Amino acid sequence: MRHLLVIGLLTLSACGSPQTPSTSSSSATAPAQVDRQPEIADLPAPYNEANYEAGRRAFAQCRSCHVIQAGAPNRVGPNLHGVFGRHTGTAPGFTYSQALQNADFVWDADHLDHWLQNPQTFLPGTRMAFPGVHDDTQRRDLIAYLMIESKPEE
Ligand code: HEC
Repeated sequence: MRHLLVIGLLTLSACGSPQTPSTSSSSATAPAQVDRQPEIADLPAPYNEANYEAGRRAFAQCRSCHVIQAGAPNRVGPNLHGVFGRHTGTAPGFTYSQALQNADFVWDADHLDHWLQNPQTFLPGTRMAFPGVHDDTQRRDLIAYLMIESKPEE
């Protein structure tokens, strides 16, 4: 519930409305609040059928440990900005488990899909204490959200 509130506040602050909370003053780099659903259509299948809003809500499960904005500090987990196309275990300044240090692949939708189903069985020994997103639709929406939000700005 608290996460949802935080997201609500972020949404408010991002659209620059006059009643933004005081924490918004440093959000000059925050993207303008635009409808991201149209960007979904440009994603590869099956993510082009995802629901952006549902993906954004699903990311509430990750927010306690991960940020996704460029340059934001690592938390319990590494910053996920630019995670697509990034080699495993290479977020700057983050100390990974041996399991993730030894993993040798580049993150793409397919790897994320398996990882997010159950991190512990996908990569035994990982420190990511997360039971997984078991609902296929929710995982699809979440990955589509990650594709859009983790994308480095052109
Ligand atoms: C309880 C905290 C926690 C939660 C919740 C969590 N993570 Fe993580 N995540 C971690 C930690 C810690 C690591 C590093 C794991 C390691 O070193 O083994 C990690 C690693 C990752 C990685 C690998 C990144 C890399 O640089 O190789 C991805 C991708 C990821 N998490 C995505 C997610 C997503 C998406 C969610 C939400 C569905 C999520 N995580 C939820 C703590 C968490």
